[in-house]
Amino acid sequence: MQGVPRHRAPAMGVIPRKESCTLGRLMARFYDRVMKQSEGACLSAWRKELLENVNGHVLEVGAGTGVNLSFYPKTVQRVVMAEPDPHMRAKLADRIVSHGVASAQISDGSLESLPFPDGEFNFVTCMLVLCSVPDLNHALREIRRVLVPGGRLVFMEHVAAEDRSNRLKWQRRLEPLWKSVSGNCHFTRKTEQAILDSGFKMEQIQRESMRKSMPLTRPTIRGVAVRQSRSTTVSS
Ligand SMILES: C[S@@+](CC[C@H](N)C(=O)[O-])C[C@H]1O[C@@H](n2cnc3c(N)ncnc32)[C@H](O)[C@@H]1O
Repeated sequence: MQGVPRHRAPAMGVIPRKESCTLGRLMARFYDRVMKQSEGACLSAWRKELLENVNGHVLEVGAGTGVNLSFYPKTVQRVVMAEPDPHMRAKLADRIVSHGVASAQISDGSLESLPFPDGEFNFVTCMLVLCSVPDLNHALREIRRVLVPGGRLVFMEHVAAEDRSNRLKWQRRLEPLWKSVSGNCHFTRKTEQAILDSGFKMEQIQRESMRKSMPLTRPTIRGVAVRQSRSTTVSS
């Protein structure tokens, strides 16, 4: 990691360390292949559109294998790619080299405790991460803390299906099993409300089905939320 303070404490994993070793290695190895169809069908286009106006100092949380790297505008001053999983981080490092993104730095920071001072970034980008953090409200408070007042959270997440829908029933039924094999990924998170409850104002939001993905992760939200100067956070 260059020019970025080391993580203060070991990343509090979403899954126990021993399991995370094997699962993390598998996820890192197969992630891009598993996501390929959805990337082609919609995700890449969404990423491009979401990231085209990002500028200044940018933090990407849960950066994974670095799929977003090619979508950041050349004008961005600095991109810190934070990724707590070492196997994902190795892929990310390779991608930074192969893409030759000089402004990109790597951090092992996790959303439990981001190793950055308050107000360090103009933008935080977060895609397909909030489904698996241990504490959604805490993670959003950390994101808010590292943003400058008026800074923006750019998000893309799969979320709970509509109330009373069959899909939601199945999401609820299968979530406990899914969480245990997928690194704590939740189907039923109400991420839009959590963003609003954590001191952000919604500037832009779109709800759309993630094509070519498994049915229970299809409902998604994506957009931009602006950090308000006063937090209206509810307790988590
Ligand atoms: C589904 S992948 C998404 C990767 C990437 N953001 C993308 O859009 O392709 C989720 C990523 O979030 C990371 N992650 C999980 N829990 C996290 C946490 N508590 N803090 C930060 N990142 C986390 C995982 O290690 C993984 O790389």
